[in-house]
Amino acid sequence: MHPSLPPTLFSHDFAANPYPAYAWLREHEPVRWTTLPSGVEAWLVTRHEDARQALADARLSKNPAKHSLQAHRSGRVGIPGERSADLMTHLLNIDPPDHTRLRRLVSKAFTPRRVAAFEPRVREITDRLIDGFAERGSADLIHEFAFPLPIYAICDLLGVPREDQDDFRDWAGMMIHHGQSPRGGVGRAVKKMRGYLAELIHRKRADLGDDLISGLIRASDHGEHLTENEAAAMAFILLFAGFETTVNLIGNGMYALLTHPEQRALLQTSLDRGETALLASAVEELLRFDGPVEIATWRFATERLTLGGQSIAPGDPVLVVLAAADRDASRFPDPDTLDLARRDNPHIAFGLGIHYCIGAPLARLEAQYALSALLRRLPDTTLAADPAALRWRGGLIMRGLRQLPVEFSVS
Ligand code: HEM
Repeated sequence: MHPSLPPTLFSHDFAANPYPAYAWLREHEPVRWTTLPSGVEAWLVTRHEDARQALADARLSKNPAKHSLQAHRSGRVGIPGERSADLMTHLLNIDPPDHTRLRRLVSKAFTPRRVAAFEPRVREITDRLIDGFAERGSADLIHEFAFPLPIYAICDLLGVPREDQDDFRDWAGMMIHHGQSPRGGVGRAVKKMRGYLAELIHRKRADLGDDLISGLIRASDHGEHLTENEAAAMAFILLFAGFETTVNLIGNGMYALLTHPEQRALLQTSLDRGETALLASAVEELLRFDGPVEIATWRFATERLTLGGQSIAPGDPVLVVLAAADRDASRFPDPDTLDLARRDNPHIAFGLGIHYCIGAPLARLEAQYALSALLRRLPDTTLAADPAALRWRGGLIMRGLRQLPVEFSVS
């Protein structure tokens, strides 16, 4: 890349390593009007300080139906295949006061206690998945590990019966592969999932349990209103927001460890000693270094505002590039160095402000256990492919590998 020329964004090379292009943008055009591959134009925000300001700014709305005819018409805003009004009422597409009400309800049901109580189940799923390939000496850690783990975990959390969870796995598979398969398949998968969730909510209403969907119904029965459509949209966004993100956290995280042997050895030594402090800071650093959400979801200016010296017009879409902000040298010393013991690490991989990730505690629990179990049980794992040959999934918002082939010795 020539130092004085703007980089080519969204190309094949960019997908493999977008960080040099983001470094250029931070330095030369930190808030830049850009044409996306879909043809939609939007502001890209790449500096850490500007990103924090944008995420916390109430003048940036999350509701595409209200504010951006351009992006909305393009059919590229929101979840692929998601077009129906009922599913659009999820947390990431609404503003206060609706957002405040729904977020309060889900927070009552998605408590830290519920997440903590979930730990044995995460261990059980993780160990069972590793058992599935430990004797073979090789595996694709995306398909055989990172992908099924969060699906089973979220299904359990929501209260989807075990016998139905493989259907969810198939539907989620169709949704995550939308970059490769016809969009019609995604639409069908979303429709099936929605139909299933509507029916499940109906059944739970008659027979409340200890799961999150029952918790949502219970919370709504205590004075605050949650319609059945809102409950279905909530279950759906928990699944959608909590699934591919976790796949990518485990996938990108393991990839970073495999390509930074000294850092990985430090972590392995600390795990062997039974310590957990480095594991916790390691997951935070992996979130910062190559986080699952490259760009936060769409925001739209409701009035004229200034961001990083640029004047943003009402209706303009704004995309906050979390991955660029988290490599900003003005906030993180040696931002391109993976330092698992990094202390001062205010990354924004989970976002910030009122839309801050509600699943962060669950994501941390899953990633900490998944990565430590892999390192402990398969300590000599190596990458079974040239890093340059690995393919990254397309798509604007998420950043993750299509496959992660590894080898290890069978004990
Ligand atoms: C919101 C990242 C896991 C549920 C967000 C946002 C980010 C994020 C960046 C804010 C998006 C924005 O403001 O545009 C991540 C990462 C994860 C993860 C990096 C790593 C694994 C999860 C899990 C769940 C979840 C496991 C649930 C089971 C949600 C929900 C929202 C959200 C419901 C919307 C919150 C709101 O709008 O109020 N997440 N997430 N996430 N996340 Fe996560």
